[in-house]
Amino acid sequence: MLFIGTAAVVFGAGLFAASIVERRTESRLYFQMPKPIPDWEPRNEVWGQNFPRQYDSYMMTRDTTSVTRYAGSARIDYLEKYPELVVMWAGYAFARDYNQGRGHYYSVTDVHQTLRTVQPQPATCWACKSSDVPRVMNDIGAREFYRTPWVDMGPEMVNPIGCADCHDPDTMNLRITRPALVEAFERQGRDIQQASHQEMRSLVCAQCHVEYYFRGEDQYLTFPWDKGLGADAMEAYFDYHEFTDWVHALSKAPMLKAQHPDYELYRTGVHAERGVACADCHMPYRREGGIKYTHHHLQSPLNNITESCQVCHRESEATLRQNVYDRQDRISELRRIAEKNLARVHLEAAAAWDAGATDRDMEAVLQLIRHAQWRWDWVAAANSMGFHSPNEALRVLGTSIQRSQEARVLLARVLSQYGIPQPVQLPDYSTKEKAQQVVGLDMDDIRRQKAEFLDNVLPTWQEQARLREATYDQP
Ligand code: HEC
Ligand code: HEC
Ligand code: HEC
Ligand code: HEC
Repeated sequence: MLFIGTAAVVFGAGLFAASIVERRTESRLYFQMPKPIPDWEPRNEVWGQNFPRQYDSYMMTRDTTSVTRYAGSARIDYLEKYPELVVMWAGYAFARDYNQGRGHYYSVTDVHQTLRTVQPQPATCWACKSSDVPRVMNDIGAREFYRTPWVDMGPEMVNPIGCADCHDPDTMNLRITRPALVEAFERQGRDIQQASHQEMRSLVCAQCHVEYYFRGEDQYLTFPWDKGLGADAMEAYFDYHEFTDWVHALSKAPMLKAQHPDYELYRTGVHAERGVACADCHMPYRREGGIKYTHHHLQSPLNNITESCQVCHRESEATLRQNVYDRQDRISELRRIAEKNLARVHLEAAAAWDAGATDRDMEAVLQLIRHAQWRWDWVAAANSMGFHSPNEALRVLGTSIQRSQEARVLLARVLSQYGIPQPVQLPDYSTKEKAQQVVGLDMDDIRRQKAEFLDNVLPTWQEQARLREATYDQP
């Protein structure tokens, strides 16, 4: 008995010692910095010299082959897939070009390439695209940054989203580098410094994966969260401030464009309720021998269900994938109904204006259109096709459909009053090209301007950036 007891104790102590050694190696390997990283260092490869595993996995965001039912990292042309969107965005740059998001590695390239940046934009557009943003904001301040035209900031923005966006280079702790999030917290009377470690694992994402708008003359990047984070609360906020992103070219409705309220939608779901963070699903831990590290290949968790979901759920991979698709299919069904309604109502409103309808006739209709499209967009623009919070996504889409239907009922009265036969004869917008003609876009000219930018302007930006970075400490 004594022998067995002693053997067990020795064995236990051995395991304990081994685990301490393993942890020590882990922490040494994590935080041993052969080369200290200067503050605001934008270049991922410099950080990568200290942290090869995190860097190598980050570089996997270069992959563009993954395609799931509603997401993935391939470039998918949403305007081709859903031509109604062109009509819904008439008069706004999104009607020119709108693709599915790709990995963080492409964040700068994709902004160069999109046809939306042929139109003059403020530097605010760069705010969530590059690890050079914190560097420049540290130099000139956020207000000055936002005030600058997009093109003037071009030579400064070369490094895609990276380490400097989420980490403090001394401690490698997570840190918030974007003032808009800190300021949104302050206006709610909260201090982001008090956020828990687990909250930070979502808040670093909420620097960019959120709804925002450009406030005032300075195009000051602002989160519309003062009345709450839900679709209804943000709509009330924008109405209160009488903010509009643009006036619709067909219906003349004062429109809102939702960005990507990923964090806000997620917050209404059961995973957030149970304290599951963005990083739990999108940056799961990986083990390599004695080393456990955070896998930095941010992508669809459906490509890695074992590490992402099965840490908590016991169901098979097939079941979990099906659970996601079942929810997304339902949301997609309502989303399509909402979009078809909206494209139609914009065109019907245009017919009413053509027939001589007055501002008074149209006022209530336009407000309904504004709200219907905002609510559709709140779900459609958020990533995950509603998976982050399926019930809320369905509710918000339901209210969108209700509002666009109500607008159509009111419009039917206006149309009858002006003697327009119904149903209104609509133009053909069944493909992206046809829809772009309907809204009066000269796509050949826009493409020509883009080619001119890529051939002549971009190389000079890149050369200026190269010369600047040659003056940095070299790795
Ligand atoms: C419970 C796990 C889970 C949590 C927590 C979670 N997500 Fe997701 N996310 C998913 C799933 C599942 C999808 C859908 C993937 C698909 O359809 O291929 C997704 C999709 C996405 C996408 C689109 C991916 C693509 O391939 O285009 C983005 C971006 C995203 N999530 C960001 C976030 C952010 C930001 C947070 C936190 C605010 C978050 N997610 C929280 C599971 C999660
Ligand atoms: C500095 C801004 C920024 C931060 C911080 C950020 N993202 Fe992103 N994210 C983006 C942008 C921009 C894109 C789209 C890039 C493109 O399409 O070129 C993107 C794309 C993605 C995608 C789609 C990848 C794919 O393969 O389609 C996922 C998933 C994602 N982000 C998750 C997250 C999560 C989770 C966090 C927090 C841990 C996070 N992001 C933090 C800006 C950011
Ligand atoms: C979008 C935000 C984001 C970006 C960009 C990012 N990280 Fe991380 N990183 C995280 C999160 C979240 C964790 C998990 C932190 C935790 O739970 O303590 C993490 C953890 C780490 C850790 C701690 C050890 C570990 O693996 O858990 C290191 C080291 C690290 N990252 C290095 C890097 C390097 C190097 C880069 C650039 C190539 C980078 N990170 C880019 C969000 C990010
Ligand atoms: C860190 C733990 C954790 C991770 C990781 C996680 N979940 Fe969950 N999930 C939960 C908890 C907790 C609930 C709530 C169920 C409960 O409390 O009984 C839940 C609920 C669900 C539900 C039912 C609720 C709903 O929204 O319809 C589904 C489906 C689900 N998870 C799928 C997934 C998938 C798919 C992934 C991977 C992308 C994932 N979960 C990752 C913890 C997790």
